[in-house]
Amino acid sequence: MSEAVGTKMNSEQAMALENKHGAHNYHPLPVVLDRGEGVFMWDLEGKKYYDFLSAYSAVNQGHCHPRIVNAMSAQAGKLCLTSRAFYNSALGPYEKYVTEYFGFDKVLPMNSGAEAVETALKICRKWAYEKQGMKAEDTVILVADQNFHGRTTTIISFSTDPDSRDNFGPYTPGFVVVPYDDLNALETALKTYNVAGFLVEPIQGEAGVKTPDANYIPQAAALCRKHGALFIADEIQTGIARTGSLLAVCGNCNCERHCERQETYTRPDILILGKALSGGCYPVSAVLADDDIMMVIKPGEHGSTFGGNPIAGEVAIAALDVVKDEKLAQNARHLGNIFRAEMQKLIQETDLIQLVRGKGLLNAIVINDTPDSSTAWDICIALKDNGLLAKPTHGNIIRFAPPLVMTEEQLMECVSIIRETILSFRK
Ligand SMILES: Cc1ncc(COP(=O)(O)O)c(C=O)c1O
Repeated sequence: MSEAVGTKMNSEQAMALENKHGAHNYHPLPVVLDRGEGVFMWDLEGKKYYDFLSAYSAVNQGHCHPRIVNAMSAQAGKLCLTSRAFYNSALGPYEKYVTEYFGFDKVLPMNSGAEAVETALKICRKWAYEKQGMKAEDTVILVADQNFHGRTTTIISFSTDPDSRDNFGPYTPGFVVVPYDDLNALETALKTYNVAGFLVEPIQGEAGVKTPDANYIPQAAALCRKHGALFIADEIQTGIARTGSLLAVCGNCNCERHCERQETYTRPDILILGKALSGGCYPVSAVLADDDIMMVIKPGEHGSTFGGNPIAGEVAIAALDVVKDEKLAQNARHLGNIFRAEMQKLIQETDLIQLVRGKGLLNAIVINDTPDSSTAWDICIALKDNGLLAKPTHGNIIRFAPPLVMTEEQLMECVSIIRETILSFRK
């Protein structure tokens, strides 16, 4: 056993272990986190940080939320995994709960976000062939440019990011990329191709919190309906209260539970959830749809050993209860408005920030430097030194997505940290 393993490590030793023994598929900020509670995390040396990433919007309910952790440990002590070869006593109640919560007939439970996206793509294709009489040879699924839907071979086949895609081919055919936030381009594609569905993020998180025109999602769904294609919303990052409503497709409705307010809600034909469905405690993802779509999947045609396991079901119920009971969508909406207003003030003080964009507590600032510059990274290092953890995306963009359990006072303290750090970089 090496020296660092088994004895109390410091951060340098922990990073050295990861670098030596782990694949280098990430470029983490140099901080080794050891403990989390609510909006805070602590490193191995005991330094406390505000979390301003929330594990890419998985920890909306805050770190180690006691209700979620209790549900998880109670179920872990009772029954962890059965596989789907048998029924388990936690799955049915979870399926009832989650389908009622989001207003769909059926759920197909999976684990990671990418798996849920793959599941939605399979359902969409099968629905098109079996219910619409379309032919596999000339049917496509539309996706948006700069999309991020995960890392599997099929999903990266329609990525427009060279880092995600290059040298991983041959690629899965049957996808056509259309420009994001461009309804004309979408309609042209719907007319040009035999389209089974359109897979889209209501806000593109990984692309740098690209926030489309308010009409884009409702109109895109309407166009899909007109042309007989399924509208598939990937809400893995935007969903579960992150953008100030239960789902980003809820539009301006900020109640804590699905309510189908007709004037604001764009109902997807297929809804994909992950990340905060477990409050970041456990890998839980889900695909929701109504019977006429979901029932194209028959026994043996799709599944996962861990998908729908008892711990996942109990954890997801607790995580969604927290969202509702603690009014996290309303808090995200309120704090998001304050945050963007404060960033606008900062933009007046420095030309280092070009703009702030986002919705609820999914926001980003664009740094006034080239995407290949190190400025955004350097700012994130300085933020870390000042007690706040955030990460650049696409070079010159910094995403700000704290847990939604943050208080206004805590948010204002974070705004001061961000302000002082950015101003210390005055050009
Ligand atoms: C919109 C979106 N879809 C899919 C994924 C993939 O999820 P996972 O990393 O759990 O596979 C992500 C992850 O960041 C995402 O943001």
